[in-house]
Amino acid sequence: MAKVAITTKFFPEELARLKDAGHEVVVHDGQPLGKPGLLAFAKEAEGLIVLLSDRIDEEVLEGLPTLRIVANLGVGVDNIDVAGATRRGVLVTNTPDVLTEATADLAWALLMATARRVVEADRDLRREGFPGWTFLPKHLGTDVYGKTLGIVGFGRIGQAVARRAQGFAMRILYFSRTRKPEAEKALGARFLPLHELLGESDYVVLCVPLTSETRHLIGARELGLMKKEAILVNVARGPVVDEEALVRALQEGRILGAGLDVFEREPEVHPGLIGLRNVVLTPHIGSATWATRRRMAALAVDNVLAALRGQRPPTLVNPEAWPKT
Ligand code: NAP
Ligand code: GLV
Repeated sequence: MAKVAITTKFFPEELARLKDAGHEVVVHDGQPLGKPGLLAFAKEAEGLIVLLSDRIDEEVLEGLPTLRIVANLGVGVDNIDVAGATRRGVLVTNTPDVLTEATADLAWALLMATARRVVEADRDLRREGFPGWTFLPKHLGTDVYGKTLGIVGFGRIGQAVARRAQGFAMRILYFSRTRKPEAEKALGARFLPLHELLGESDYVVLCVPLTSETRHLIGARELGLMKKEAILVNVARGPVVDEEALVRALQEGRILGAGLDVFEREPEVHPGLIGLRNVVLTPHIGSATWATRRRMAALAVDNVLAALRGQRPPTLVNPEAWPKT
């Protein structure tokens, strides 16, 4: 029997799977724990299921020497010191694939809402009422159908975003670390270097992981390369964009708008964004549908159960740690 600590309220059926396997399960169902709280809560745990807002750094790994697996409830693992975990033989897992379609849907929801000023129009209608149909209303938006979509990071989510764009007859451009010839053919997508993609796209959707290479990938210079009528959508991670530079670009009308699900210093949101009409903001809800969250929870539990049985977890991020455990 092992102790499994979960830092969030969880689905009862998934708790039952862990308990039925004979494990002791502790659940933290409250405000974010913070480091001292996490260390106390997960003391002597062998399995740890965490949120992407839980920072699993060197100090946490050092303070939890019994850990065998950290299962992240999310695909991005920038909150975890994966190299440090690997050195200690701690397995790290994530939840890829099961959240791809929901996150691509949200990218599109942000794209459409920003292009057609849906949130702004709704807010104005509630506040001011419906003034009657006019030919040139104040919520004139921008076309989506037939426009050019630039996708930065052409992995699972990036390609799912592109699949949806086919229904809108869009020209699809992408930039990614490696070329994807099969996806290019299947989706009619064209690879372009980042700076060229930025200059040609009407919509730029960010789908890269946060790494040392992608931090501030989009800064003042890159925003300056975008079309004045272009819209930026970020469903990746906040720090991929220099938020200060983005606020300036939006305030000065150097780009048309932005749809943002992620922020540079979450849960803080740049005050400059709050006052802008040409942005749509969502609180990091890319994968937040009931069905997707159920699949993520189930996958995290599959990973923990496998690791604690001494089997290779299905979505292992650090295979280098595997033979050592
Ligand atoms: P993925 O399949 O690994 O796709 C990421 C893509 O980015 C890969 O094609 C990768 O290239 C590319 N890439 C990596 N580093 C790059 C760089 N320096 N420059 C250009 N391209 C680079 O991951 P995914 O499942 O699509 O998820 C992507 C990210 O979305 C996650 O890491 C997470 O941060 C974010 N996300 C956010 C939400 C949300 O709620 N908003 C939900 C889910 C995911 P290679 O193919 O060469 O590896
Ligand atoms: C969410 O942001 C994830 O990485 O799954």
